[in-house]
Amino acid sequence: MKIPSNKQLMLWSQLVLLSSDITMSTLGFLVPKKSTFPSGIKALADFVHSKGLKLGIYSDAGHLTCSKKMPGSLGHEEQDAETFASWGIDYLKYDNCNNGGIKPTNRYPVMTKALMSTGRPIFFSLCEWGDMHPALWGYNVGNSWRTTNDISDTWESMVSRADQNEVYADFARPGGWNDPDMLEVGNGGMTKDEYIVHFSIWAISKAPLLIGCDVRNVSKDTMEIIANKEVIAVNQDKLGVQAKKVRMEGDWEVWAGPLSHYRVAVLLLNRGSWRTPITAHWDDIGIPPGTTVKARDLWEHKNMKTRFVGNLTAAVDSHACKMYILKPVF
Ligand SMILES: *[C@@H]1O[C@H](CO)[C@@H](O)[C@H](O)[C@H]1NC(C)=O
Ligand SMILES: *[C@@H]1O[C@H](CO)[C@@H](O)[C@H](O)[C@H]1NC(C)=O
Repeated sequence: MKIPSNKQLMLWSQLVLLSSDITMSTLGFLVPKKSTFPSGIKALADFVHSKGLKLGIYSDAGHLTCSKKMPGSLGHEEQDAETFASWGIDYLKYDNCNNGGIKPTNRYPVMTKALMSTGRPIFFSLCEWGDMHPALWGYNVGNSWRTTNDISDTWESMVSRADQNEVYADFARPGGWNDPDMLEVGNGGMTKDEYIVHFSIWAISKAPLLIGCDVRNVSKDTMEIIANKEVIAVNQDKLGVQAKKVRMEGDWEVWAGPLSHYRVAVLLLNRGSWRTPITAHWDDIGIPPGTTVKARDLWEHKNMKTRFVGNLTAAVDSHACKMYILKPVF
């Protein structure tokens, strides 16, 4: 089954996700609740589209959604896909609750087919929690797949999701991405440096950048992070190669991945409690030995004054990172 790949990644700012207050009519069609959606969802989608945004919706590959209050789409896939398409939906997050013990590979592809046959390109986000290693089969089924169970707003939860997601790096590619869950940036459980690490790892891992905080009142610090265009550009790079953890020594790590135009994205990550120098060696990050590079610091928004040959070293604070784009100088 070919998946529409014209929408490779959903940027948080382009997406509004609806997740509640949709019930079912006697004919089995999903019906928006009048009090929540007085003009209906089509009108809402038209409004969202008029702002240059996309609209996402939530359903479940089970009989009921996780709250057990709203209907899921299992057994109603075609009808629901038709409804989503007729409403003008652009993204479907498809959860895994109340699934009657049916294998995911017998549930998710049914919705894939239903979405495909609507003719509307709808980004299909598999929220299977990584249970049956969806990275191994997700590419033929959806445009992204959760590789982990739910994230929470702590440093430990965030870095452990990053680690679990990294294992599947080779399976990500344009049209199908590993998803370590939504961003917690702005929710208050981590320091600013920790949220910078969170956003940087998600970006370099080519993860969907789905904002998870209340966008009605984003602080200046949060905005500096989620609106860092240089870091978002790494996420959206057309090569679409997920970075890997290429070196670990004690509490520090180097993550790296290739970008278009022979550039390399590098993350120096300090998971320990003390400021420490971290070195990225060309051998580890896929740059030929002897190559001179110039470096751009994506959080300082500065070109580094010196050129680098063979390695780049920087001092990194506790629970913080440095992120660079390296570009060979010929
Ligand atoms: C953000 O704004 C909304 C709506 O005005 C309000 O309900 C919510 O409590 C606010 N949250 C914070 C963290 O200020
Ligand atoms: C980094 O490379 C320089 C040469 O450019 C070399 O002198 C230095 O020892 C290297 N540092 C590390 C930590 O390998």
